[in-house]
Amino acid sequence: MKSDSKTQKRFERDLERKVKLVNKTLGQVLSRRDLISKELRTPIRYALMGPGKRIRSAIVLWCCEMISGKVNRDAQIAAAAIEMVHTYSLIHDDLPAMDDDDYRRGRLTCHKKFDEATAILAGDALLTLAFEVLAKEIKNPATAARLVGELAEAAGPAGMVAGQMADLDFENKNADEKMLRYIHTNKTAKMFRCAAVMGGICGGANEKQLKRLREYGLKIGLGFQIADDILDVCGTSKQLGKTSGKDARQGKQTYPVVVGLDKSRGLAKKIADEAVVALRPFGEKAAMLRLLVEALLNRTK
Ligand code: IPE
Ligand code: IPE
Ligand code: MG
Ligand code: MG
Ligand code: MG
Repeated sequence: MKSDSKTQKRFERDLERKVKLVNKTLGQVLSRRDLISKELRTPIRYALMGPGKRIRSAIVLWCCEMISGKVNRDAQIAAAAIEMVHTYSLIHDDLPAMDDDDYRRGRLTCHKKFDEATAILAGDALLTLAFEVLAKEIKNPATAARLVGELAEAAGPAGMVAGQMADLDFENKNADEKMLRYIHTNKTAKMFRCAAVMGGICGGANEKQLKRLREYGLKIGLGFQIADDILDVCGTSKQLGKTSGKDARQGKQTYPVVVGLDKSRGLAKKIADEAVVALRPFGEKAAMLRLLVEALLNRTK
């Protein structure tokens, strides 16, 4: 069901607030680390503080808020950490050895603005910094350890890195739908699942609630990547802030390639509906997370 315009406005205002809070936390986290060398500080800031949508970090904040009634400091730190890992993944994803892209977030990619070695190291720095921040700034050591474990697992060789490996392996090969789902689940959906779980952990969610959040995160993440594939075909570079039409030129295995555009749209809708179903036990408290599903399904950037 499509929400009315008043509800949509409320959602947009809340998302804006979340984005501001994430940007503020990222700024604080960086400025407290004045030992970072100047040669790295500039590209790190360039990549991290660019106009990203901050969807994963907003999910962390919303999940914490839904469970505990408020966004606490732990959730702010976890949101900053996942945004750092995500930004690292984009810097490396754009490198010539991977997707070889010139534009990201409406500006030159990190390796184009600086150079390849600097981009590799800025990515390395963001990845490690994320874990330093979690380890040092989450108050309760047991919570810190859980968050570190979740994020490492989602981003690592049983998650995003595995998905990226398969994404590259299957360039110019024919993947079937099952393989494509494996790629998208790993390269993208597991980070979304992690965002939802980290928010839940910060809010003190119980196992039953975490199970629902896991399901929501995985579904919304898979839907997000299908939408990304569709936008690469149907969107413009200006809209997207990155070069459109790139997937076909590179022989990427995407939903439009493997199942066609119409079926891709249908699948995105079906998975979005499943994400909403996962939120049912939370009732009205899940309003923003539900509206996010709708916004991501209809997104144009
Ligand atoms: C891009 O992610 C990479 C994908 C998994 C499709 P986003 O579309 O969230 O990128 P930003 O953070 O808004 O730039
Ligand atoms: C990237 O997928 C997923 C990551 C883990 C970064 P894509 O390669 O499709 O993302 P874009 O289109 O470059 O943003
Ligand atoms: Mg890629
Ligand atoms: Mg790419
Ligand atoms: Mg893409």
